[in-house]
Amino acid sequence: MKVTGTEHKISDFSGDVLVVGTYEDGLSPPANQLDNQIGGSITRLVESSDITGKANEVTTILAPGGFAVTRIYVIGLGKKEDLNQQRAYEAAATAAVSLSAKKVEKAAFYLDDFWPSELMEQAIAGAVSAVNGQDIYRKEKKQTPPSEIVWNGATPEVLEHGIALGNAISLTRSLVNRCANDIYPATFAEEAAVVAENHDLNIEVWDKAKLTEENCGSLLAVARGSVKDPRLVIVRYNGGKKGEPPLALVGKGVTFDSGGLSLKPSDGMITMKADMAGAATVLGAIKAISALKIPVNVVALCGLVENMVSGDSYKLGDILHSRSGKTIEVLNTDAEGRLVLADVLNVALDEKPMAIVDLATLTGACVVALGMDTAGLMTNEPDWCHEVEQAALTTGEKMWQLPMYPEFGEQVKSQIADVKNVGDGRWGGAITAAKFLEEFVDETPWTHIDIAGPSFAEKPKPYCGGGATGFAVRTLVELARRQATR
Ligand code: BES
Ligand code: MN
Ligand code: ZN
Repeated sequence: MKVTGTEHKISDFSGDVLVVGTYEDGLSPPANQLDNQIGGSITRLVESSDITGKANEVTTILAPGGFAVTRIYVIGLGKKEDLNQQRAYEAAATAAVSLSAKKVEKAAFYLDDFWPSELMEQAIAGAVSAVNGQDIYRKEKKQTPPSEIVWNGATPEVLEHGIALGNAISLTRSLVNRCANDIYPATFAEEAAVVAENHDLNIEVWDKAKLTEENCGSLLAVARGSVKDPRLVIVRYNGGKKGEPPLALVGKGVTFDSGGLSLKPSDGMITMKADMAGAATVLGAIKAISALKIPVNVVALCGLVENMVSGDSYKLGDILHSRSGKTIEVLNTDAEGRLVLADVLNVALDEKPMAIVDLATLTGACVVALGMDTAGLMTNEPDWCHEVEQAALTTGEKMWQLPMYPEFGEQVKSQIADVKNVGDGRWGGAITAAKFLEEFVDETPWTHIDIAGPSFAEKPKPYCGGGATGFAVRTLVELARRQATR
């Protein structure tokens, strides 16, 4: 899909579909202009309540004969006062999903004239990333993106940024949607190498031998049950001042989570190809941050393993020697993400980061607590968590903080090792998992984002097909912008 800018008046566009926006409390200026040219059809549809302007409503109007386009999509933008980055992103994505459901060659986006550049950027990213859905393995594609879209009202820079952000979200989505036969530690590392090559990033890949040499006993124990060897991928972007401590982004990359010997039932295992969403998100984020040339140093670390069952699987009761020196008692092999992260967080400390954010599809408990669309935030440093929250408020991605009372920490103490990998029962499972992670970050400001809910959608939404959502890439980019120097 080619994306270009246009300065043309709405009446000068010729192509298949014109996309205009309307609010619940009034038409946008382009919708108004167009309405005048087509004899007031939009106004009449508003009067008859066929068009309400509610967020993500799509109304198709056939353009009058002789008009330079064949169809008009009127996209609901919600109430003017509620307009934010998320709305802009969703509105354009909704339009792109609708365009992709039909055969459209060329479409033009005239959502609104007066959006500031941040909203434009998010909207363009929405249109670019929404056309990459679950079609990867279909011979007959259900989604056919337009071959060209033109965008009104964006400067070349905003256009470039929006496209870069959209491409990064697409990368995250497609890595998560690809199945575990296709994306496993070695192939994920190859994809990371492609990103590094294209964006001139420094990359280090630790294979099994190197991980052994580095005493990553916790990560290696999880990997042992699989014939697919683990990897740890470290990608560095140096956009900031030389020597300035980087922002560390750590991702859980369990390319398939069978549960290990604590085997999951089929129902719980079906979507576990998506258990590497944390790793895919941090890779997408560093791709975007480097493409946008944000003046900040960032290091992304992806802990990549497959959690499987074999004669050599790690077992319940095993004591693992983590890289930090702390020993871990394994009481459930399905609590594997935290075991992987224990070592990756320790490697992250070697980078002397200013702060750490980790992203992980860590617990079902977090989904029980906050639902499918909201990520859980847990931290050892309220100020740093506040920073992450502010970034999320800016992008409109839903994140909510959970408490880290010391009592929860008591639950990960072990009788025979330094820590154990589960709490005493199910209650507060998202928090006991975070308390376990906290054992491995020392004093470094750290925020854990549990994305088990929002990273993967069971049902399609108007703005995003089912499956991977690309959740949190935009917030990580915003977070990097907030840390930027110069
Ligand atoms: N990857 C799962 C968590 C998960 C569940 C992600 C549902 C997405 C959707 C994780 O490794 C896991 O299995 N967690 C266990 C922890 C328990 C054994 C303490 C869980 O949530 O049940
Ligand atoms: Mn698990
Ligand atoms: Zn898992």
